[in-house]
Amino acid sequence: MSIWKRKSMALLLAEASESEKGLKRTLTAWSLVALGIGAIIGAGLFVRTATAAAQSAGPSVTIGFIVAAIGCALAGLCYAELSSSIPIAGSAYTYTYATMGELLAWIIGWDLILEYAVGAATVGIAWSEYLNNLLVNVLHVSPIPYEWCHSPFQTSADGVNGIINFPALFIVGVISLLLIKGTQESAFVNSLIVIVKVSIVVLIIVLGWNFINPTNHTPYIPQESVFVDEHGIGHNFGGIWGILGAAGTVFFAFIGFDAVSTAAQETKNPKRDMPIGILGSLAVCTILYILFAHVLTGLESVEFFRTGGKEASVANAITSAMPGYEWLAQFVTVAILFGFTSVILVMLLGQSRVFYSMGKDGLLPKAFGDLHSKYKTPYKANLAILVIVGLFAAFVPGDIVGDMTSIGTLFAFILVCISVIVLRKTHPDMKREFKTPFVPVVPILGVGVCLAMIAGLGWTNWLRLAGWLAIGLAIYFLYGKKRSVLNNSEKGKEE
Ligand code: ALA
Repeated sequence: MSIWKRKSMALLLAEASESEKGLKRTLTAWSLVALGIGAIIGAGLFVRTATAAAQSAGPSVTIGFIVAAIGCALAGLCYAELSSSIPIAGSAYTYTYATMGELLAWIIGWDLILEYAVGAATVGIAWSEYLNNLLVNVLHVSPIPYEWCHSPFQTSADGVNGIINFPALFIVGVISLLLIKGTQESAFVNSLIVIVKVSIVVLIIVLGWNFINPTNHTPYIPQESVFVDEHGIGHNFGGIWGILGAAGTVFFAFIGFDAVSTAAQETKNPKRDMPIGILGSLAVCTILYILFAHVLTGLESVEFFRTGGKEASVANAITSAMPGYEWLAQFVTVAILFGFTSVILVMLLGQSRVFYSMGKDGLLPKAFGDLHSKYKTPYKANLAILVIVGLFAAFVPGDIVGDMTSIGTLFAFILVCISVIVLRKTHPDMKREFKTPFVPVVPILGVGVCLAMIAGLGWTNWLRLAGWLAIGLAIYFLYGKKRSVLNNSEKGKEE
């Protein structure tokens, strides 16, 4: 039994066509772009942007967005090649299984839990912040008491300790149930939400531009210093390291375009539609983000985003800096609550498809590969994910799960970039509908930019990633390795 055993291409493609009998093929290129934008615009923009400005880069968070976008575009080109040649559920996990063997596939599959499940928890926590804003500023009723909408690791300005984040737990529960009912309805609702989300981002850019206060943009790149956050963790603020730290944090805002590739098995024409879905959604979002971050950091000061405007930052900044536009803050609050739900939906969808593939491969319990007899969805995987996501959403602070998501995803991107190079060598003749340009330059640059962002995220996040991977390795050697289908059958032998 070898941990380096690779899944053969022939087996993978056979599995892909077998899927005709499994998951339903209902998605088109447009629904993929919508799925992408649905997953992309969310807590990264409406919560993490202000955090990155406050903790790392001030107004130069815009440059952080540019760095993150470059990293995503490079990795996105690699994702597009892989998803157009291996059109099967499971995303980076599946690609790694084909190119670098079972152990690395497991590592990436385990790591993707950080991206999708912990990412969904982060957005759930953001949802909880904006829900309180809705109660207070739109409905003019009392907020949910601090202790019931914050983790035990958080304390309010007046000394109340958090206990559990109920709203975050509630929203991930509802969406998990929706997903069990099926992708088709969810994709339709998602398209509507995408339109609303893009509209509010454009509105804020256009209307907010006149309220930019140049003092808040001076200096654009703050001088280097250290900012100590509420958990006592120091962050490099200002200068190059500040920008890289901000890039790592706002990288979260781009996560999701790759989730598109997890739906390959449900796409009508994956070889053509995947690259369009991935790169198209990325391009639209990049432009919007840079403009949005420029406006947001112009509306209010870094100090504001560290204190009173820390939670529900966008709505609070509009209320405080744009007199006469309370309606916009209220509209943003309502719209983004729906917007966040679509992000959670795609992240949970991605996560369940990864668990589905890992269950089928025997690396996770086989039951995760079972489809619901009526809805044809991997409902057991969805329920298991609900437990994991729920725990993170209820008990861990948003800043921590947010940066864990970023670092986990950056690590996945690095492995995807490397996979392209490996696959070109091991399977030069494989049919590729979309080819990453300038291989190996593009993948190598992708690895470099992602590593720079990982460096910017700082040692606490490196430790969290290392700890997470160590737990994953223990599970693999105690569980997955013995039960792996590939390791226990003739069928999986190398071509
Ligand atoms: N990109 C997604 C968001 O910002 C994960 O919420």
